[in-house]
Amino acid sequence: MTQVANGHGANGHAAASAAKPRRVEAIRVEPPTTPAPVDGEEQRPTGPTFHLNPANASYIIRVTADGDLDHVHWGARTRNAHTSPDGGRDSWGPVRTRREFPDAGHGDFRQPAYRISHAGTAITDLRYKGYDIVSGKPPLSGLPATFGADDAVSTLEIHLEDELAGIKATLSYGVFHHLPVVTRSVRLTAGAEGAVVDELASLSIDFPVGDYEMLYTYGQWARENQVVRRKVDHGIQGFQSLAGYTSAAHNPFFALVNPTTTESLGQAWGFSLVYTGSFAAQVEVAAKGYARASLGLNPAHLSWALGPGESFTSPEVVCVYSGSGVGGMSRAFHNLYRQHLSRSDWTHRTRPTLINNWEATYFDLSQDVLLPIAERAAGLGIKMFVMDDGWFGVKHPRVNDHQGLGDWTPNPLRFPDGLDTFANRVTDLKVKPLPGDNDTAVAGATHMQFGIWVEPEMVNPKSELYENHPDWVLHSGKYPHTTARNQLVLNVGLPEVQDYIVDVVSKLLSSSNISYVKWDNNRGMHELQHPSDSHRYILGLYSVLDRLTTAFPDVLWEGCASGGARFDPGLLYYWPQHWVSDNTDARDRVSIQLGLSLVYPPSTFGCHVSAVPNHITDRKTPLEFRAHVAMLGGSFGLELDATKLSDDDAKQLPAILALSEKVNPYIIHGDMYRLSPWESTSPAVLYVLPSGDAVLFAFQLKDAHFPDQPEPIRLQGLDKDAEYEFDGEVYGGDELSTAGWNWWKEGDYQSRVVFVNKVK
Ligand code: DGJ
Repeated sequence: MTQVANGHGANGHAAASAAKPRRVEAIRVEPPTTPAPVDGEEQRPTGPTFHLNPANASYIIRVTADGDLDHVHWGARTRNAHTSPDGGRDSWGPVRTRREFPDAGHGDFRQPAYRISHAGTAITDLRYKGYDIVSGKPPLSGLPATFGADDAVSTLEIHLEDELAGIKATLSYGVFHHLPVVTRSVRLTAGAEGAVVDELASLSIDFPVGDYEMLYTYGQWARENQVVRRKVDHGIQGFQSLAGYTSAAHNPFFALVNPTTTESLGQAWGFSLVYTGSFAAQVEVAAKGYARASLGLNPAHLSWALGPGESFTSPEVVCVYSGSGVGGMSRAFHNLYRQHLSRSDWTHRTRPTLINNWEATYFDLSQDVLLPIAERAAGLGIKMFVMDDGWFGVKHPRVNDHQGLGDWTPNPLRFPDGLDTFANRVTDLKVKPLPGDNDTAVAGATHMQFGIWVEPEMVNPKSELYENHPDWVLHSGKYPHTTARNQLVLNVGLPEVQDYIVDVVSKLLSSSNISYVKWDNNRGMHELQHPSDSHRYILGLYSVLDRLTTAFPDVLWEGCASGGARFDPGLLYYWPQHWVSDNTDARDRVSIQLGLSLVYPPSTFGCHVSAVPNHITDRKTPLEFRAHVAMLGGSFGLELDATKLSDDDAKQLPAILALSEKVNPYIIHGDMYRLSPWESTSPAVLYVLPSGDAVLFAFQLKDAHFPDQPEPIRLQGLDKDAEYEFDGEVYGGDELSTAGWNWWKEGDYQSRVVFVNKVK
């Protein structure tokens, strides 16, 4: 990282002009200007204007004559925006301006971006002091954040100060050169008297007057990520998590779109918070009809005390602009999160097919029950066996969800030969080659890998851990503890709890041949003694994950939280994949997975084929359909008892596994195009590799009974001038994109996977 420009000094305006602003490819600083006289009255000079130019987009901020920051533009690329027709400070004060970092207390009667109490007042007056521009992107202290090399991203830091209180703020903007992305975060530093940060949004942005809709997801256990699109109206509309974690109720993401925006056309502004704790998101339409969008830490879980000179950094928010519809926005998020957020090597690697025993055995497991499942799976060609909940606990064996959580010693009755011996038996198994495997695999070089389930942030009251450390759980004085799923939450904000988790997981990983960890988390926080205990916990969790993933970089880590209750960019920084939902019904998974793909790359999805009737919905769907839906995600597996497969299913599985391995590189490396409306009963998805080759997934949830016909599937992302081999014939890219392709098969829950090979 190198400093490439700056403007500093007692008077920010003068300093900025004196610093001879130089042209930096992604960030341009326009010197202060003096507006033309109005009604013969001389105008005061403004401060500099910052032009942030990520790929195909512009983000413009102007320092006002008062040293406040006006938000001028975020959207399509423009060379200039000297005047903002509907913005600008006027005699009515800040209530009628589009502001970049709005405070509370000086007459802007909308949602502030921050509130700080200090020395008996809640008023602050942060004014522009100067800026720095660096190539690359400095990390955020203690927080996960996007990253990039000097040639991929540049960073602007705008410095503000309240001279009365000595409080300082630095607004950081990461500008990505090859993606339409600007990231934002804020660092606040207390003055000599200390301060309390009561509220701090990562994003506050005032959109110009216009017609907007808000796109986001809602859900609950087993029904995560249902897409909502609603009109943005006067007043406040928003959503939040107060669970202490991101939760299944909402993802820390929303987009603003115009009513005419579709999947492939029109404007979309997406915002995604790189954070795992409680958050708040809202859009407020107030004075003049401007829409103020904000996203960040939930103020109900903040109130962070700072000693003199201490700093507080907000999580990062990622802002994506798309002029090519919601799909363009999603692909920008996918590329950013794959290339510049998820730091595991696994992010860029195809994933082993796996079998997980949870739905096969639930808590009823032992080495004698599991080994035959692993053996049968290896015989089918599955590459990894994952042992789920129930393998641990000595004094209080984890034979159900009432006890044992926290005691990470293998259950000696269930594993009399020890965990390492069991793991070795699994890893000694040779995986049967799949149809089409190459000679090395045929020679038997592939051995099964072993993975394990843990839930280290939690404890059952009936456990040795709780007996020894009752004070380690979240609790508040003498108030009774609230249990959920019979468990309590360890206070990961405490350094001793952090050390315990790192120690216990490190010992486990060093004790046996373990290649994969499923890290579960099955309830929300309770009895927060102080509101900020929640954020302190999340910072503690990040420190734990940093230590563990640094110490065990080769392990394939998968996040899980009763399914997808903590599927967020914060955890994606440490872990390359996440279990999508406990609902493995393929019909329901289509909408859950597509909803998740609004923001998250499908390469990060853990998706398994389970038995029918489905354990949650009781629905029966064909094996091929279940498999095709699961192949949409980067980590494909089975979640059933392989010893109980029907002859027919066992016969089909090797070809299904071979197909899953063939499509996996497309999911890991390809660009995803959703080809159908959200509510379609014939959803279709295309993944296009950088080489131009693609794979199409087409589903028919309901039979299109005569006389209805499903719409043709029109492919996107193809080279219209090229020829493609498709379903046994050669088609032009133009034909596949415009006329499209029709298919139909009798019966509900049908599916096709078709390769689209560019003729070279
Ligand atoms: C919830 C997870 O989502 C399931 O997959 C399973 O691991 C259970 N917890 C185990 O308790």
